[in-house]
Amino acid sequence: MSARNVAVIVGSLRKESFNRKLANAVIAIAPDTLAMTIVPIGDLPLYNQDLETESPPVQWTAFRDAIRGVDALLFVTPEYNRSLPGGLKNAIDVGSRPSGKGVWSRKPAAVISVTPGALGAMAANLALRQTLVAVNVATMAGPEAFIGQAGTLFGDDGKLTNESTVDFLRKFLQAFEHWIERNGAQR
Ligand code: FNR
Repeated sequence: MSARNVAVIVGSLRKESFNRKLANAVIAIAPDTLAMTIVPIGDLPLYNQDLETESPPVQWTAFRDAIRGVDALLFVTPEYNRSLPGGLKNAIDVGSRPSGKGVWSRKPAAVISVTPGALGAMAANLALRQTLVAVNVATMAGPEAFIGQAGTLFGDDGKLTNESTVDFLRKFLQAFEHWIERNGAQR
């Protein structure tokens, strides 16, 4: 069986992002059957319906094409003020239009939230799931992944050093792979 292509979407834009480090750790331990690549969202112009013309911003088109071409989605997001960051919401909005041609629809997905705080960015995780319902994404219900205390999990080189988190992520990926198979790789 050929590998499933998975777009990894990181909700933080900052260079030293814990979420990006966690995403890279997930990519590093993913089985060969999951080909995971980060699709950047930082250069997407803010969604504006006036720009939805015959020639929308080139960044929107490139992003839409990239998402359209994958089999599944993994969101790794921080929490901003008890919700998902605006940049991530913008990316989801960009991918959801033009109406009826959204690129998210029917793709299997999973969500991981990461914070240096104690609560695992649970509010962002759940808020993101709510938005994913609106764009017809099949989000894996469980296991849920609320990664807290992120400041203690990585070495100086940015690599994930916390063994129990690595173990958890391996199990999470196993469940995600089954989820992708059960829910069809929609293109
Ligand atoms: C935060 N942070 C934060 N953390 C949290 O657990 N719950 C929250 O509601 C918020 N709110 C919030 C708002 C804004 C505007 C910022 C910039 C930050 C802290 C946040 O978890 C922390 O900055 C993380 O390091 C962000 O993730 P990355 O960039 O490390 O991936």
